[in-house]
Amino acid sequence: MNGGGENGRADVPVVAIDGPSGSGKGTVAALVAERLGWALLDSGALYRIVAAVALERNMDLTDGAALAAMAAGLEIRFEDERVRVDGRDLTETIRTEPVSRASSQVAVLIPVREAILDLQRSMRQPPGLVADGRDMGTVVFADAPLKIFLDASTRVRAERRYNQLKNKGLDVNFRALLANLEERDARDRDRAVSPLVPAPDALIIDSTDLTIEEVLEKVLSEVESRQLN
Ligand code: DC
Repeated sequence: MNGGGENGRADVPVVAIDGPSGSGKGTVAALVAERLGWALLDSGALYRIVAAVALERNMDLTDGAALAAMAAGLEIRFEDERVRVDGRDLTETIRTEPVSRASSQVAVLIPVREAILDLQRSMRQPPGLVADGRDMGTVVFADAPLKIFLDASTRVRAERRYNQLKNKGLDVNFRALLANLEERDARDRDRAVSPLVPAPDALIIDSTDLTIEEVLEKVLSEVESRQLN
């Protein structure tokens, strides 16, 4: 997997934001990065890219070695909020339900996780990085000076996702969406490798009854109080 650059710099601050799908972590991470003028790593997009290409090539979603070899050969670019893989724009493709489901399947495989580890760490460049995912604070950036674990009730997370898709004009079934979310959460939380758990030193924020702005302010005030910016 071609990200280029060195293997990250330990002296560069990282804000790690982990949590289940629909917790708002992607939106919050993007806003924090924008406010601080730092780079953004959407690590879930990497698992989604591997899954999308695997589905396209009819690959076995349990074959870790083959999937890792494929991942290592991809050229991935995040530019202007678009995702390009080997020169093709996959921005919309990676957000579809089949890809969401397949991404949590390929994410249980150690070789796949290892194949994208260096790429993730190479994004740690001055002045700082905001990284969101499931194992940013526990594995990938275990030394991050600020770790947030963003959670919310399953129902609220499903409602948020439903509204997002509706707003895009997509026809969605709430029950099916809730069932998929629960299935994916269980797989992400219960897997043996890098499961979705808060780091021992993470600040846990429950966003069930909070707006995005309220969560954003909480995170930014932690950045301030730790003098990271
Ligand atoms: O955050 P997301 O929904 O885009 O993530 C897609 C899948 O990728 C999710 O089901 C779990 C996996 N994932 C992971 O295992 N580790 C990460 N750091 C990020 C995502």
